Amino acid sequence: MHTTRCSSQDFFAWRRVQLAQGGRAVDFDWLLMMRGDLSWASLQKLRILPESSVQLAAPLDELEALWHRHVIEHVPLQHLVGRCPWRDVELQVSPAALIPRQETELLIDLALDCLKLSESDAPPETGVWADLGTGSGAIAVALARSLPRWEGHAVDLSAEALDLARVNLRSFAPSPCWMLHSGSWWEPLRHVWGRLNLVLSNPPYIPRDQLAGLEPVVRDHEPHLALSGGDDGLDCCRAIIGKASRALAPGGWLLLEHHHDQSNAVLVLLRDAGLDAVQSQSDLQGVMRFAMARRPLRG
Ligand SMILES: C[S@@+](CC[C@H](N)C(=O)[O-])C[C@H]1O[C@@H](n2cnc3c(N)ncnc32)[C@H](O)[C@@H]1O
Repeated sequence: MHTTRCSSQDFFAWRRVQLAQGGRAVDFDWLLMMRGDLSWASLQKLRILPESSVQLAAPLDELEALWHRHVIEHVPLQHLVGRCPWRDVELQVSPAALIPRQETELLIDLALDCLKLSESDAPPETGVWADLGTGSGAIAVALARSLPRWEGHAVDLSAEALDLARVNLRSFAPSPCWMLHSGSWWEPLRHVWGRLNLVLSNPPYIPRDQLAGLEPVVRDHEPHLALSGGDDGLDCCRAIIGKASRALAPGGWLLLEHHHDQSNAVLVLLRDAGLDAVQSQSDLQGVMRFAMARRPLRG
């Protein structure tokens, strides 16, 4: 493998030249970590020890070329390196599916909390989960790893996304407790309707008139099917919530991620669908980005 060694001073001068082309320093340092194998901690150490030298796991011209494509062509860095750290794994990513976002990591913790009867309880040993609109398989991987004895179902309309999800599930959740299904939302899961204890979805939720205004790195490189939520952004939420009370098991939970200004509308949809324990949760920035509800135990 071709590596690069240079003095700390030369390294920081080179880094300044790259950043002068555009882009964010935090993204450049992410590239250095993922492709150059330079951890954030090592980078900080270099700043306080200017006499030291730095070793990168890639040639400088390769890093320059990747950064150039990101800054000029707006190609997501995750696509350029083909990987994305997410929770405790490094998922394979590609233009076939949405790049898993950091805020979605929280949806898993919220889901696991819903399953506990009290704070000290562990989730039940067995049950059935589903991930509707699995994309890269991020949510499905996390559920399969957290609930290893549960039966799991991951659904997507996109064949390319399902191929990517399969790769990630095989790599990080190798036990045969999950299945992939091609189709729309609940439809491929009719055989488990009434038995689903936990269903998560991060559906497409961008309103149609906001698609053109998205950052080019998203708009031009991530699948339209993963972004567009119809006129008001809520088409997919409506489709999912509309059938939840038939598809969930009695007492089964539905958790959704949604756009930053959709919390009230999603809560109304959940209540109107006859679900109970309806509540919202914020992301790490304090923005209401998640909604959850349960099918009543009776009725
Ligand atoms: C916002 S992405 C979420 C991907 C992944 N779950 C994540 O959190 O990174 C939404 C996903 O829903 C899928 N999708 C869109 N319409 C669908 C439908 N009618 N039925 C099933 N999946 C659908 C898209 O292909 C895309 O993979």
